[in-house]
Amino acid sequence: MEIFDLADAAARERAIAAAVAALSAGGLVALPTETVYGLGADATDGRAVAAIYAAKGRPSFNPLIAHVPDLAAAEGHGIFDETARRLATAFWPGPLTLVVPKRPESAIADLVTAGLDSVGLRVPAPAVTRAILARFGRPVAAPSANRSGRISPTRAADVAEDLGEKVAVIVDAGPCPVGVESTIVACLDGRARLLRPGGVPRAAIEAVIGRPLDDVAVEDVAVDEARAGARPLAPGLLTSHYAPRARVRLDVERVAPGEALLTFAGRRPPGTDEAGAIVDLSRSGDLAEAASRLFGALRDLDRSGAASIAVVPLPGEGLGEAIVDRLRRAAAPRP
Ligand code: TXA
Ligand code: MG
Repeated sequence: MEIFDLADAAARERAIAAAVAALSAGGLVALPTETVYGLGADATDGRAVAAIYAAKGRPSFNPLIAHVPDLAAAEGHGIFDETARRLATAFWPGPLTLVVPKRPESAIADLVTAGLDSVGLRVPAPAVTRAILARFGRPVAAPSANRSGRISPTRAADVAEDLGEKVAVIVDAGPCPVGVESTIVACLDGRARLLRPGGVPRAAIEAVIGRPLDDVAVEDVAVDEARAGARPLAPGLLTSHYAPRARVRLDVERVAPGEALLTFAGRRPPGTDEAGAIVDLSRSGDLAEAASRLFGALRDLDRSGAASIAVVPLPGEGLGEAIVDRLRRAAAPRP
């Protein structure tokens, strides 16, 4: 494994060349995105994609997002209706994934879509990553670069810690500025459904499409494989995810002695003085700052050795919807 930084133009060029070479050889590359670091492989090479699943220990029914440099490249693999095109134009490059019908002629491997006839496509923001995608010339399948069920990585060091042995190249562009994964919207059958809250707030999407998003009906979601008669629309939506080692307690009003505390806007619930470790996601109460620090804070608090992490109530609007969603998954019962 080699970590490439972007210290100057020559370093950036070395990083791009190393990433493209590793992808071309069927290897795994950790790529920076504005949301979280991705574990990338050639999306048209089934064996390379299989290596992603193996490295993450990920159940193979969970489809992956294909990353492309721009909308034109995306339209080579997916069929965009007017809503999808409008959303892509408004938010790409940016933290939005669009699930659209897969073009029958697309070379994206079935393992990427887990056999669905739709495909998740996204254009990430960092220029270095788009340069890698453009030069590579094929879509790159990339889930978050963490072991399955663990906290998503927002720093290159997080990737090295989780998957260092398994990746050929890590491109280090510093901490991810958004910090929670992309919002996923399915544009299928003329509907626009929110499959996962994320870096683009719901209200921003609804403003662009001029109507409310359809929520995913419970019957669309397979909570467990056994119950899944039909294929899940958003596999993994309700499962435990982003799990730190420590137990996570939400909406606490009192901190237990020795517990780690994840707080917001300077709040100090009773017991704070006896907390083992404290992180304030944003002293000023800024949800964008809180999102960008969320996963790093969970990793840091976990490393403090506390048996549980107490989380104060957080606002659920705007980016808060994604933050609360990720925290609920972190607190969910583990399989
Ligand atoms: O911000 C992000 O989206 C990051 C960066 C690396 O791009 N990626 C990410 O990937 O979060 P991952 O694999 O952790 O989550 C992808 C989600 C999964 O929940 C999967 O079920 C959903 O996307 N997905 C992908 N393709 C889909 C499809 N065709 N239909 C429904 N859901 C799909
Ligand atoms: Mg993930």
